[in-house]
Amino acid sequence: MTNGNSFSIRMAQPKDARAILDIYAPYVRDTAITLTSKMPRVDEVRKKMHIVKKTFPYLVCTVENKVVGFAYADKDRPHEACCWNAELSIYLDPNFHGRGMAKALYTALFQILKAQGFCNLYAVITLPNEASVALHKSFGFKELAVHEGVGYKLGEWQDVLWMLLRIDGANPETHGPPTPCKKLRDNEVDTALMMATALMVGVQ
Ligand SMILES: CC(C)(COP(=O)(O)OP(=O)(O)OC[C@H]1O[C@@H](n2cnc3c(N)ncnc32)[C@H](O)[C@@H]1OP(=O)(O)O)[C@@H](O)C(=O)NCCC(=O)NCCS
Repeated sequence: MTNGNSFSIRMAQPKDARAILDIYAPYVRDTAITLTSKMPRVDEVRKKMHIVKKTFPYLVCTVENKVVGFAYADKDRPHEACCWNAELSIYLDPNFHGRGMAKALYTALFQILKAQGFCNLYAVITLPNEASVALHKSFGFKELAVHEGVGYKLGEWQDVLWMLLRIDGANPETHGPPTPCKKLRDNEVDTALMMATALMVGVQ
């Protein structure tokens, strides 16, 4: 889905793995925004995408066909009782921060997750991260708890804030577990991508 200023949101494809890693790598190397310390290889990014896409949406946003950001959901905990939960990831190229692209990506992601039947969306944010906390608050996430010193990276113990948004996609009694993303009807996904892309019309 493309808009007037050549911004678009689409499902990630294996060929995007290199661009996704190029965006992610500086956050791994230079920050504790992700608690991953070991740089993934491009084939590992591709493999992770393949596994995620069996169940969850994995989206990229592009400007003039170049991938400038990505967002996906992933398993929260392994228990069957937690199958209505999803943990979120979102990363943008710093040259494209502050233009509403994260909002557009999340708008599409959440609409798809809701259509699938997910109920609880978790953001797990290494502190401080003003931009991420603001992004999640703008969607109505509430702060649950800070887990102090859960990871050691860049010479420091890192604190992590858990935030939750309940979207009540499905009644577990009547709907059962969420529908895998790839089993949604194409038009449900296309509508979500189109509506979110439209949010960026007129934004440079
Ligand atoms: C967090 C991140 C995804 C936000 O992306 P973005 O495209 O710049 O965000 P948007 O422009 O869509 O803004 C979304 C909301 O957050 C707010 N926001 C964004 N950056 C902000 C900042 N630096 N300080 C305060 N608020 C900020 C915006 O004002 C907007 O809120 P509003 O709608 O109430 O005005 C981006 O900064 C990023 O990639 N950061 C590095 C990776 C990261 O932290 N990922 C999250 C890990 S938990």
